[in-house]
Amino acid sequence: MLLLFIAFFFLLVLKLTFSKTIKNLPPSPPTLPIIGNLHQIGDKPHISITNFAKEFGPLISLRLGSQLLVVASSPETAMEILKVQDRLFSSRFVPSAFRQNSVLPYSLIWSNCDQTWKSLRSVCRSELFSPKAMERHSRVREEKISDMLEFLRNKQGEVVDVGDLVFTTLFNTLSCIIFGKDFVDSKYEYETHDGLKDALENILKYGSKPDLGDFFPMFQNLDIQGLKKGGLKQINNIFSFWKDIIKERRSQTSLSAWSSDQANLLLDRLIVQGFSDVQINIYVGELYIAGTDTTSSTVAWAIAELLKHKEALSKVESEVMKKEMNFDNITEELPYLHACIKETLRLHPTGPFLLPHRAQETCEVMGYTVPKDSQVFVNIWAISRDPKIWDDPLSFKPERFLGSKIDFRGQNFEFTPFGAGRRMCPGMPLGLKSIELILASLIREFDWVLPNSDDPSKIDMNDKFGVTLQKEKPLKIIFNPKQK
Ligand code: HEM
Repeated sequence: MLLLFIAFFFLLVLKLTFSKTIKNLPPSPPTLPIIGNLHQIGDKPHISITNFAKEFGPLISLRLGSQLLVVASSPETAMEILKVQDRLFSSRFVPSAFRQNSVLPYSLIWSNCDQTWKSLRSVCRSELFSPKAMERHSRVREEKISDMLEFLRNKQGEVVDVGDLVFTTLFNTLSCIIFGKDFVDSKYEYETHDGLKDALENILKYGSKPDLGDFFPMFQNLDIQGLKKGGLKQINNIFSFWKDIIKERRSQTSLSAWSSDQANLLLDRLIVQGFSDVQINIYVGELYIAGTDTTSSTVAWAIAELLKHKEALSKVESEVMKKEMNFDNITEELPYLHACIKETLRLHPTGPFLLPHRAQETCEVMGYTVPKDSQVFVNIWAISRDPKIWDDPLSFKPERFLGSKIDFRGQNFEFTPFGAGRRMCPGMPLGLKSIELILASLIREFDWVLPNSDDPSKIDMNDKFGVTLQKEKPLKIIFNPKQK
């Protein structure tokens, strides 16, 4: 009897939640009572949601339990969300792993566009990604790439996981810019999963798992899946890696003989700007989380595509081998390489839906109502594979970008792998420069061979959905030094 009563009570509460019907929502596939469209999403939401858009149009709504999700899947609807009504749509829908009192007030990624967010973005610009800051860090970037090449020269004949290799290179680049030291020892640990890398990966895992509490608010505070608890544990875990360094730099910078002219590390500059330890922890943790996986998975996809497309690889090879490499001017000097990177980001955008946006107020898009607090996705995966927009969209054809004005700087809404508008990726200059330098160096210095002389045309290109869209099967290759 008790069980029956509880079940009845649950259904009643859910029914009441659903009975608030909103008129004029964007079209939606048929929903089931209570769960809405949850059963139709599957483990590759970029594919299932793209299929819905094909059937129901470029702006659709889906019910995930009681949560309303609105998805834009055309350049016009993307522009509406990211440009025309950017102010109303630039709040975030926060995954529960990050919905923590100790994280949210200090977060750049998950804050709404408030004062904290504004000042953190401005620190990003001035200290890391402005042309001046990029120039200041150019030596570190080159050094880390030299370390990577040195590591590979010592690995002759051995199989290397490309994602791990690039992850470590970027990780150490960021660590040297922020803390003045490598966190991963490239001599021994490219292939191992040291604690920090594991913790970062776990944070991403917790952050990308669907949370029952988002779908059914009655479970929200129960944390049944342990996402909040687990996420917080991992977040605190990464802070322990640099706790002592912060302590040491704080005492250095407080010495009377120390002047702010000596603030070479990002950490020093944050301390000078009055950042507390917790602010530093969150800011730095988010830079690692946002910067490493995105960039390393793009490089892995690019290498896989180039291995599969021999003609493209030999074109880029002859371009890269032709001249002395000028690290500062790579985009202009290597147009074919740049086109290959764009084509990789078109076919394999690391954030297929960008990061989740949220409607701050009820508003109207393309004549439909988008209620306040709806979660909003821009399905850039669908847009960049749409045959109405791209000729032969599923093929890897870097040539399509040669001489084309289409760029990813947030003005062309058919191609926004870094987003657009207020929430556009601030790290694009570093991400892009790293991808260019890493690919150019790996092409210049090594021949790429698959283990067991496997046929490159058979490389498995399936993807795995998460916060970033990774290769399902990690790319492993042998880097043979080029005979010069
Ligand atoms: C291939 C490389 C990269 C790609 C494709 C990429 C893509 C993106 C995308 C799609 C977003 C979300 C935009 C939105 O929600 O509208 C984003 C946000 C962000 N990215 Fe990147 N990113 C890359 C590299 C980096 C790097 C290297 C950093 C820093 C080290 C970085 C830092 C951030 C931050 C902090 C945000 C959040 C911005 C905000 O919410 O205001 N990203 N990125």
